[in-house]
Amino acid sequence: MYPKVHIHLKKYAHNVSYLLRLLHSRGISMMAVSKVFRADPKLIDILNKENVDYIADSRIQNLKNIISDKPKVLLRIPKISEIADVIRYSDISLNSELEIIDLLNMEAKKRNKKHSIILMFDIGDLREGIYYKEDYIKIVKQITLMENINLLGIGTNLTCYGAVIPTEETYLKLEGIIKNIESSLNIHLEMISGGNSSSLLMVNDQSIPKYINNLRIGEALVLGRETAYGDPIEGLYDDVFLLEAEIIEIKNKPSMPEGITGMDAFGKKVRFEDQGMITRAILSIGKQDVDCSNLIPPKGVIVLGCSSDHLIVELKNISLEIGDTITFKLNYGGILSVMTSPYVEKTYA
Ligand SMILES: Cc1ncc(COP(=O)(O)O)c(C=O)c1O
Repeated sequence: MYPKVHIHLKKYAHNVSYLLRLLHSRGISMMAVSKVFRADPKLIDILNKENVDYIADSRIQNLKNIISDKPKVLLRIPKISEIADVIRYSDISLNSELEIIDLLNMEAKKRNKKHSIILMFDIGDLREGIYYKEDYIKIVKQITLMENINLLGIGTNLTCYGAVIPTEETYLKLEGIIKNIESSLNIHLEMISGGNSSSLLMVNDQSIPKYINNLRIGEALVLGRETAYGDPIEGLYDDVFLLEAEIIEIKNKPSMPEGITGMDAFGKKVRFEDQGMITRAILSIGKQDVDCSNLIPPKGVIVLGCSSDHLIVELKNISLEIGDTITFKLNYGGILSVMTSPYVEKTYA
């Protein structure tokens, strides 16, 4: 039954293998991020077979379900309400709050475990992390004194909230933090987790600083592109995931609504351009599965809009019938939502 997402396992394996080799050739380990496909077991199998260094996910529920002998990394800084599960189901977590790290330490002690953390620093993107201008040495010192916490290293996240692109200048801030911590506390930071798919350009042109020895990669593996500028990475597939949906109505109708217009089904004011009569098709998929702005239609199909359960497209010089299907490429948000929707069947090739 449609809608279906077609997952091309060999293409995903190719992308993983290619990027893993690239990172390893520069002395960088890879945390392969599984949240975008909700830690689908067949894709996790590929990460196992390709021998990625770590599997990372933002949701503890996903980490709990992942079967792997790779170290599991919790990407989203932990909630107080999930501390016990963080210790149970992850080996490493990204953190930025001393209070939480203290709770992790206590829980790890209870379970007779040692939990590793990567302390996150915000060097300008303004999402998680201790602001780099803060006085953080006292915090780091306290962490090093925690018996059941292993401070594995430090990390930063870029090009997520503030869209800050990794550059040599931006990375100087990270270098400053490393030097400050290592010299003030006389410790060695084993892991420097320098970012995500947006750092791949710097890996490729070898401008990434040598001290960065880990990256957390999600989007580049599923879409074959870096995320600083959104450019494709040569040799990688951008169609690991394809969405196929079924046509339930085709009619010639005007391009403009008739009557006085107010708000659409989502409370938004809508605008239309009068293009006369057009051929409109409705497909049985909607915002409950994927926002139509995340779909990349094939030639001859123009996405007009969507409501919760209906996707409306214009058909131009393309002959289709009721019951036919249309296959779309997806962007990152599209993959994320169709892989999360229970209404979208997952099929594997
Ligand atoms: C902390 C963190 N690091 C890395 C990633 C992966 O980012 P990308 O998909 O751009 O590689 C994410 C998002 O999934 C994240 O939240």
